[in-house]
Amino acid sequence: MVKIPSRLVVFFLSLLFFLILITFFTYNQNHIALPYDSALSSVTYDLETPDPTVEPLTTLPLKPPLSSIIANNANHIKKRNNIGLAKARAAIRRAIQTRNFTSSKKEIFVPRGCIYRNAYAFHQSHIEMLKRFKVWTYKEGEPPLVHDGPMASIYGIDGHFMTEVENRSSPFWAGHPEEAHVFMLPISVVNIVKYLYHPLTTFSRGQFKRVTTDYTNIIARKYPYFNRSRGADHFLASCHDWAPDISRGTNGKVLFKNLIKVICNANTSKGFNPAKDVSIPEMSLLGFELTSSGQDPNHRSILAFFAGGVHGSIGKILLKHWKDKDEEVKVYEYLPKDLDYHDLMRSSKFCLCPSGYEVASPRLVEAINTGCVPVIVSDHYQLPFSDVLDWSKFSLHIPSERIPEIKTILKNVTHARYLKLQKRVMQVQRHFMLNHPAKPFDVFHMILHSIWLRRLNIKLPSIDIQ
Ligand SMILES: *[C@@H]1O[C@H](CO)[C@@H](O)[C@H](O)[C@H]1NC(C)=O
Ligand SMILES: *[C@@H]1O[C@H](CO)[C@@H](O)[C@H](O)[C@H]1NC(C)=O
Ligand SMILES: *[C@@H]1O[C@H](CO)[C@@H](O)[C@H](O)[C@H]1NC(C)=O
Ligand SMILES: *[C@@H]1O[C@H](CO)[C@@H](O)[C@H](O)[C@H]1NC(C)=O
Ligand SMILES: *[C@@H]1O[C@H](CO)[C@@H](O)[C@H](O)[C@H]1NC(C)=O
Repeated sequence: MVKIPSRLVVFFLSLLFFLILITFFTYNQNHIALPYDSALSSVTYDLETPDPTVEPLTTLPLKPPLSSIIANNANHIKKRNNIGLAKARAAIRRAIQTRNFTSSKKEIFVPRGCIYRNAYAFHQSHIEMLKRFKVWTYKEGEPPLVHDGPMASIYGIDGHFMTEVENRSSPFWAGHPEEAHVFMLPISVVNIVKYLYHPLTTFSRGQFKRVTTDYTNIIARKYPYFNRSRGADHFLASCHDWAPDISRGTNGKVLFKNLIKVICNANTSKGFNPAKDVSIPEMSLLGFELTSSGQDPNHRSILAFFAGGVHGSIGKILLKHWKDKDEEVKVYEYLPKDLDYHDLMRSSKFCLCPSGYEVASPRLVEAINTGCVPVIVSDHYQLPFSDVLDWSKFSLHIPSERIPEIKTILKNVTHARYLKLQKRVMQVQRHFMLNHPAKPFDVFHMILHSIWLRRLNIKLPSIDIQ
């Protein structure tokens, strides 16, 4: 038997203990499982270890574009950025523990109540975002395929979002890419489809993929940012139903595996990853003012309302079962000329929001704005902002297989419960409002906050750029 001196044992044990302690603290610095989001808590992207399933951009060797002066400053700013994020995480953690917030400014709105998964965490996270979050938009390219987007259409959120992010006066504007926490690919999916697929003779995604791949190659060759995170701190925002198809570049290369997809068509069975991607609401911006109005909940005469053509399979089942069938569940395919769509929503207790060709429906925001409790008829739909909003508190969800039971389900909701749901719908309205310029807690801030939350959880490599 070899006798190990006990002093040595004590020494190694202390060393081990010390190492564990250090690991624990560094880990906590960089990784945080936001307790108010079970979806995010399990995922942390550690990009220091290269992902073997992601192919690097190989088209051309990358030339470091920055002068050495900028590069030296860059490391400094990057360090400051990481410290900023660590501080934000600590402040959020503190807010959760103390059930209060810390702010250097006067708070104009304090989110409270059960519509939030954790109101304290959300509030502090929003404060930290306003204080620190910086977004860089690549300047390359000309409109309309990039730096543009519709303002008044079913995809109108694209144009409004682009305008806000590209506004130099925005508090989120990064003056220099090294200052940025995230990078926007300013690609307009809607305009690519509009201009390159005109006339629309094919649904082949070839052209769309070519433009997005070419653009990404340009910015990845010119700057180190896409390459260094393999796209994980880059995002593309679009409500168009083709946007989810950006997962692959041309040649089938997995260029966009890590990209944060900020999209309406948040179909979890079609590649939408709730931990990485962001679900945004579809908004019909066709002239209908996004005003919050509607009848008093006690004076709403219609139990449930829907009007719309057949777009996709869920609408088809809905119309088959309920079109012109019931006095209380009013389902129309074509609304009679003497009836007004939004007036009917304002007079209904529940508004049916079935998925169309894509999972999202503009009816969701219309229902919320008219004080009508949304009844989401969908499968595999990741609802917008569900990191922070608890949809079960202000909406109902009915899977497509239960469409025949709609009336039974709605009749089963007691008046007291309906009143609660409706009150909370009114509370949640501010998060679906579109303002120009954007205001804290409105839909623009909610979208950005979803991106911010994902960035908070991503640990980027600390490689030096030189
Ligand atoms: C919460 O914090 C604010 C300022 O940060 C303070 O004015 C307020 O008294 C605190 N509320 C509670 C309940 O501690
Ligand atoms: C940019 O933001 C400023 C301040 O928020 C606002 O006054 C201005 O109208 C915005 N410009 C555009 C083009 O949206
Ligand atoms: C970009 O990626 C390629 C391939 O992985 C690598 O060789 C190169 O060093 C990277 N460039 C920068 C600037 O990070
Ligand atoms: C969601 O994705 C699944 C799988 O691709 C598909 O079958 C379904 O139709 C999609 N839902 C909608 C509403 O597009
Ligand atoms: C009716 O509501 C009760 C409680 O609110 C619930 O337990 C029950 O499953 C509901 N029944 C139907 C058919 O939805």
